[in-house]
Amino acid sequence: MQFFFTSLSYIRSPFSSAKADEKQHNVHTKSPLCACRKVLCVRFQSSLLRIKTNGKDKITLRPVPIYEQSGAGRRMVTLLYTISVESVEDATLIMVVLFFLVCVAKLGINLPNMLFKLASKMRRLDALDHEHCHLDFGALLSPDETNRSSKYLFCIQQKFESFRKTGLAVWADSVSLAAYLVCPSLLSTRIQRACPRPSREDVSRFISVMPRLDNQRIVELGCGVGVLSLVLQRFLRPETVLATDGDENAVKLAGSNMERNDGKHVQVQQLRWGCDSDINQALCAGKRRPVLFDVVIGSDITYWPAPLGLLKETILKLVTLDGYVILAHKDRSKSSSRVFFDSLSTHFRENFHIFAADLADDVGQTGGDLSEEDGMHIFIYRGLLLPQGRKE
Ligand SMILES: C[S@@+](CC[C@H](N)C(=O)[O-])C[C@H]1O[C@@H](n2cnc3c(N)ncnc32)[C@H](O)[C@@H]1O
Repeated sequence: MQFFFTSLSYIRSPFSSAKADEKQHNVHTKSPLCACRKVLCVRFQSSLLRIKTNGKDKITLRPVPIYEQSGAGRRMVTLLYTISVESVEDATLIMVVLFFLVCVAKLGINLPNMLFKLASKMRRLDALDHEHCHLDFGALLSPDETNRSSKYLFCIQQKFESFRKTGLAVWADSVSLAAYLVCPSLLSTRIQRACPRPSREDVSRFISVMPRLDNQRIVELGCGVGVLSLVLQRFLRPETVLATDGDENAVKLAGSNMERNDGKHVQVQQLRWGCDSDINQALCAGKRRPVLFDVVIGSDITYWPAPLGLLKETILKLVTLDGYVILAHKDRSKSSSRVFFDSLSTHFRENFHIFAADLADDVGQTGGDLSEEDGMHIFIYRGLLLPQGRKE
C-alpha cells in the first residue's frame, strides 16, 4: 500500500541534517488498533525514514525535496512523501498522523519551525544544528538558462551555534559579491533592484576597475563557511586562494566545505585580525618566504561590533603595493563603518564605491534583530601608499 502527501509549508527540515541522519531514536508508542505496547525503532537514514516493528520494516517514508528556483538558487519549498505500509493497521496509523498534521497546518502552526525554536531554547541543538545551504550559482548568473552543469552547484554546510545569532552560516553578501566578481556585468543588468539606483557611469566605471582575479594571490578575511573563496577558486582560476577566519569553528567548517565541494585547492587557516603570527603564517602559506597578496577580499566583515581597527591593520600588512582590497558591506542599524572606510581610503591611491543590488537576499543569514538596508556596498581600494615602517 502506498501513500503520497506533501508537507503544507516550507520546511527547513531538521531531518535533512547530516547529524540527525545518523541518529537513532527509540520511540515507545501504542498501536491504535492492537492496544499492545510495541517498541518502534525510528531510523533517519540519508533520505529514508523506516519504522521497524519486531525487526521487520513496517512503514517506510521517503521524503523527496521539491525545490524552487529563486534568486541565488534552490530553495526547498516542500517535501513530497512516499509512504509504504504493510497492513491496514499501519495505514490507519498513518491516516491519524496525517489528520494531526493537517489540523496543525490549518491552525497556521509551522511545526518544524516551532520544534526548531523550542529545541534551540532548550539548548538541545545537537541533532538540529546542522543545515545545508544549496546554492545554484548558475541560476544566479543566468536565471533564464535551465540546462546547467553541476559545476554551478554548491552544498554548503552551516552550523547555528545558537538559534540564528552567530556566523557559521552563509551571509548573503558573500554570494552576491562572488557573483559580481565572476560576472561584473550583473551590476548593470540586475541594478534595478538596488535602491538608490547607481548611475550608468558609476556602473561602467566600477566594472572597469574590478580587477581580473586569474593568476592572482587572493586572501579572504573572515571567510565564515567559505563560500566566497570557494566560488572564486572554481570560476576565476586564481594562482592561490587562502580562506581565513578568526573563529576556529569557522575554519573547520570552511575546510570541510572545501572538501565537500571539490575546493581542495583553497587553503584554509585561522587568521585573527591583528595577530602577527597568524598574518605571517598567511603570508608564508605554501611559500618558503613571506609573499604579499595581490587581492585582499572580505564580505560582511565590517559589521557591528567587529574590531575594525585590527581589520585595517591586517589588510595593510597583507596587500602588495599595487594590490587590491575588495570589501562587501551591508549597512545595519548599528553600523559605524563609514569611519572605517574613510580611514582605509587614506592608505590607497584610488578608491571606488558602488551601491549594488542584493542578488541573494533569500539565501543564508541576515542581521537578525538589527535592521538592514536593501542592497550592499562594494568598496575597492587600489595602490597601497606605503605605511611607515613597512618595506616592500
Ligand atoms: C558576518 S560573518 C561573514 C562571514 C562570511 N564572510 C560570509 O559573508 O558569509 C563575519 C565573519 O568575520 C569573522 N571575524 C570577526 N571578527 C574577526 C576577527 N577579529 N578576526 C578574524 N575573523 C573575524 C567571524 O568569525 C565571521 O566568520
